[in-house]
Amino acid sequence: MEKFPQKLASKISQRLKDNALRSLPKASQLVDFSSNDYLGLTKNEKIERQIQKNGATGSRLLTGNHELFDELEALLQSHHKAESALVFNSGYDANVGFFSSVPQRGDIVLYDELVHASIRDGIQMGHAKGYKFAHNDIGKLKEKLVSLRAQSSRDTEFYVVTESVFSMDGDSPDLKEMATFCAKNNCFLVVDEAHATGIFGKGTDLISELGLENDVFARIITFGKALGCHGAAILGSKQLKQYLVNFARSLIYTTALSPHSVAVILSAYQYLKKESSGICKQLYQNIDYFKQEIERFRISDKFIASNSAIQCVMISGNNKVKEIAGQLQQEGFDVKPILSPTVKEGAERLRFCLHTFNTNEEISQVLQSLKNYMAT
Ligand SMILES: Cc1ncc(COP(=O)(O)O)c(C=O)c1O
Repeated sequence: MEKFPQKLASKISQRLKDNALRSLPKASQLVDFSSNDYLGLTKNEKIERQIQKNGATGSRLLTGNHELFDELEALLQSHHKAESALVFNSGYDANVGFFSSVPQRGDIVLYDELVHASIRDGIQMGHAKGYKFAHNDIGKLKEKLVSLRAQSSRDTEFYVVTESVFSMDGDSPDLKEMATFCAKNNCFLVVDEAHATGIFGKGTDLISELGLENDVFARIITFGKALGCHGAAILGSKQLKQYLVNFARSLIYTTALSPHSVAVILSAYQYLKKESSGICKQLYQNIDYFKQEIERFRISDKFIASNSAIQCVMISGNNKVKEIAGQLQQEGFDVKPILSPTVKEGAERLRFCLHTFNTNEEISQVLQSLKNYMAT
């Protein structure tokens, strides 16, 4: 069909005008400073890529619930110290499933203004009202809560949502203070751990590292990033699991992960359990080295403070940030620009994802070039 709605065409033209049109990139052979494979597990030959039968054949509630799911969920439960775990097909599905079904009509979801799109989409699909609070600002969260509570009925439940490592900033909230705040104010705390899964707390997550497992209502962990696989899980109480199995539409109305995918996640976890101290240490060393180098090059003031594998340098404007990313890519470094509207206009940035396999030489070289290009 040649006809295309004019309204859609003009939205595309606007993107083009803003130098923000997205397209699918070709597979890259460059030095990887952009994937989420923080621990390098996608390249690890010790992880068995077991071949099981092909597809799942149905939803987990019908024919798709292969026995490997039980094995994986038991492992996740003990590894992440949770009462229960429920596997979803992706982090997107887990967030949409949770937020569209758990908060009820009349409830209120207070979410950090920078939470992932999947959380926002889930809230929009549900019946509760969502209100954002300023990024990592517990003072502002408190103000919002006080004013909303004054207007709400006694049976309104309050959910507070944040990420343990923010995907586009690499920074973290003060999770201990947030947990104390939620306990004191009778709110359910939900933490998306996508970029902390496998990296912190001896290969677990940041909530586990901080010993806050019993202070959160739910954690979302994902396997598509440091675990090098695909899929996600919601960690929480047995009751929460039972609820989600009954009401989370993104779990119920979709074909389950294939047994092969579940087997690969199991293998990745078994490897992580044995090797986490070595590989996580290597990643932390690279993060420390990167941070030392941005100090040595005197560009640290342009970076968002972060202790995670995500390090972002602010370069305002889609044109400028795309230009510098292009220059680094020409030199062989795969560094991605983060453009508006993914981030606010003026808050465009280059995002460096650090991995176990990045060498000190690569880190020094890419930062030397970055410094040169930023100066021109
Ligand atoms: C914070 C956060 N949550 C959830 C997701 C979605 O996870 P998945 O890629 O497994 O769908 C992402 C992915 O980028 C993310 O960054």
